[in-house]
Amino acid sequence: MSCALTDRFGRTIRYLRLSVTDRCDLRCVYCMAEDMQFVPRRDLLTLEELDRLASAFVARGVSKIRITGGEPLVRKDIMTLFRSLSRHLRNGVIEELTLTTNGTQLANHADALAAVGVRRVNVSLDTLDADRFRALTRRGVLGTVMDGLRAAREAGLRIKLNTVALKGITETEIFDLIDFAHGHGMDLTLIETMPLGDVGVDRTDQYLPLTELRSLIERRFTLTDTPERSGGPARYTRVAETGGRLGFITPMTHNFCESCNRVRVSATGVLYTCLGQEERTDLRSALRGSEGDDLLNAAIERAIKRKPKGHDFAIGPDLRPALGRHMSALGG
Ligand code: GTP
Ligand code: 5AD
Ligand code: SF4
Repeated sequence: MSCALTDRFGRTIRYLRLSVTDRCDLRCVYCMAEDMQFVPRRDLLTLEELDRLASAFVARGVSKIRITGGEPLVRKDIMTLFRSLSRHLRNGVIEELTLTTNGTQLANHADALAAVGVRRVNVSLDTLDADRFRALTRRGVLGTVMDGLRAAREAGLRIKLNTVALKGITETEIFDLIDFAHGHGMDLTLIETMPLGDVGVDRTDQYLPLTELRSLIERRFTLTDTPERSGGPARYTRVAETGGRLGFITPMTHNFCESCNRVRVSATGVLYTCLGQEERTDLRSALRGSEGDDLLNAAIERAIKRKPKGHDFAIGPDLRPALGRHMSALGG
């Protein structure tokens, strides 16, 4: 293997988040505007190009690949990509191939994902209430997501639920969410909303710091911090009363950029070395050039050397979104 990708701050890149589409069948209010403009399909990388790109990172020491979107399971023939990338699992060169999904298509894909070696999935779920689900996602498909979760459990996949903490909503639901997740053997991770893209509402109205939510949870439950990590930015606690795991992703109140080990590639082949910065490198031309992988490798290496120290997200009444790009362009 050629040498690992290490940035100016000594951080080694082991984790690739590969977006396969910016489209999604939901319209979560903190993520997208209702009338989102999506990238024309002709601008997307082909499945073969996505594979080549991911494999170039694997050759440089990436050991974890997370497929994201938009919603990755709405990409046509997506299982072809999972199947081809799974050779790196079988060859023992990567430790994990996984995805983050909204769960609406999971019932159709759970068995096939398990068959290619996916061991766990992260499923976004902010509410267990059907009316609230419709209001938050602008689509009324909570039942379909529940079917997807059941299918994933039956296929033997471990599940982490991701819940974006939303003011006025999560405080009232947090105990039901913990009961639901832990009652079904799933982890639950709470996420602070980040100001990416204009979603037509003031983020201040949505933002609930996890310090507040944790205090609320601790009125009823005993949380013990654990050193366990899942490869991403979540810090985990054990809930004594349920025995389950509760994670906290706190980009706003506790920045974790110092230990960042990941980069992202959009479905159009743009490499973003930080979720919270505009710094980017177009890899598509290198991928499509006639120089083989040399040009691609050189472009990746140069980009990693420019990886920013971290994000500088801020949420406040007078602040516009820090970045024009929506979360759905990169899948978190
Ligand atoms: P595992 O730890 O492997 O389960 O993955 P993860 O938590 O990194 O992945 P997931 O897709 O579940 O990420 C959940 C959310 O965490 C993302 O959608 C983002 O909102 C946030 N997140 C993940 N990585 C970063 C990061 O590098 N920076 C920031 N600011 N947020 C991140
Ligand atoms: N801030 C934080 N998390 C977000 N997600 C989408 N938009 C935002 C945002 N603005 C979450 C989704 C999903 C993951 C991919 O990112 O809920 O769990
Ligand atoms: Fe779709 Fe995920 Fe964005 Fe919701 S958060 S609209 S499920 S990409």
